[in-house]
Amino acid sequence: MKKMAIVGAQWGDEGKGKIVNYFSKDFEWIVRFSGGSNAGHTIYYKDKKYVNHLLPSIMPNSNSKGFLGAGMVLDLEKLVEELSILESDFPDISSKFYIDLEAFLVLPWHKEEDEIIESMRKKPIGTTRRGIGPSYTDKVSREGIKFYYLFDESLLMNRLEDIYYLKSSYYGNKLKTSISEVYEFLIKARNRLEKLKVNYASAIEMGEVFRSTSVLFEGAQGVLLDLDFGTYPFVTSSSCMAHGVSSVGFSTFELDDVYGVLKAYTTRVGEGPFPTEIFGEEAEKIRRLGNEYGATTGRPRRVGWLDLPALRYAKIRSGLTGLVITKSDVLNGFDQIKVCTNYEIKGKIKDTPSSSYDFFVAKPVYKELKGWKNTSDINFLKYLSFIEEQTQINVDYISYGPKTEEMCSKNHLILNIDR
Ligand code: GDP
Ligand code: IMO
Ligand code: MG
Repeated sequence: MKKMAIVGAQWGDEGKGKIVNYFSKDFEWIVRFSGGSNAGHTIYYKDKKYVNHLLPSIMPNSNSKGFLGAGMVLDLEKLVEELSILESDFPDISSKFYIDLEAFLVLPWHKEEDEIIESMRKKPIGTTRRGIGPSYTDKVSREGIKFYYLFDESLLMNRLEDIYYLKSSYYGNKLKTSISEVYEFLIKARNRLEKLKVNYASAIEMGEVFRSTSVLFEGAQGVLLDLDFGTYPFVTSSSCMAHGVSSVGFSTFELDDVYGVLKAYTTRVGEGPFPTEIFGEEAEKIRRLGNEYGATTGRPRRVGWLDLPALRYAKIRSGLTGLVITKSDVLNGFDQIKVCTNYEIKGKIKDTPSSSYDFFVAKPVYKELKGWKNTSDINFLKYLSFIEEQTQINVDYISYGPKTEEMCSKNHLILNIDR
């Protein structure tokens, strides 16, 4: 039974939600394995837009079910909010979602800490302020709250007291939420989840189920925001690569396909290096045409040309087996398109960054290609062939609009090209 992962090949917001949603009809399970509500995955269903922050991008009217894995950090306020939005259009949909008991929680304190630390940093990261860094920090320093604590109230209270004791010694009176407020908030959210009939399970219990059926793993963020291999410290705090499926008990060797999703250009939200970034009128034009404003925070996204060295890096780091290109329609009508083919690093030309350091010192080397009128234009096919030649990986699917059905395989595109 097929196992596939879809991950971001750039700095996030590549259109993963849409692509997962497109494939989801062929899969029994859609599994989120990392990140939290910093993610914003946009999908359309019957012309209505939904933005999933925590919920896997299942197709609401299909039989597929969603699993929120142990590698995630869950903000229960956001989770209940998202489920309530879906419930109003699809009653009882919550019972299609399963939460791993080992997942960690984002507490109200974590969101306060994210604000405090960002405002104190000399060089802010530009986080989403969703408490992601502080929640993963607590996990690693062994102060985290696991989802299953919610079902043992005295354990939960004890742990909150211990954690607050530590936190208040770092933060003094800067943290505004009291222990009892956090406790009551968590119990209330747990009761709401139970009422909605959300399911709880562990990857151990789900192991047999997942192995005997089809599973689509939905990555969050993008390879260049990965904690280990992204443009550190301007990264998120979790694994953004296919390897993250290990938190659901899988190895990457069990994946039939790992698709990297990329835009026909590049965007980034937040601070940090971005070698192909462009400014001024051209940047504004792409931002406007691509509606490049964050799905989670509404911040304008920084924009730039396609970066092939970064894509080669993402291919190797995340073991990509194929590519899906999105937003090709945004560049329709451009006379010329620039593509970065190499980096000049300390006077030497490089194809592929050898470490994340290279992104900080790279000067992009560009090639200009002819633009296209639409995806049936031969110049668009040439653009795809150029990417394939340069990166030695196939572009298997093309997305040319935000709606789920605005998508085709490359073979289909070739048959319909205007010659
Ligand atoms: P994700 O985080 O990777 O799921 O991506 P986001 O949802 O944050 O951002 C992608 C944005 O591009 C969303 O507004 C999508 O609706 C939109 N989108 C996805 N694919 C396409 C496409 O091929 N063309 C256009 N014009 N928009 C797209
Ligand atoms: P999806 O899944 C784009 C960025 C933030 C910031 C950095 C750290 O929708 O592609 P964090 O709040 O995680 O501590 O912020 O990471 N970031 C994203 N950028 N898409 C995302 O998710 C992102 N999630 C985090 O802007 O630069
Ligand atoms: Mg997004």
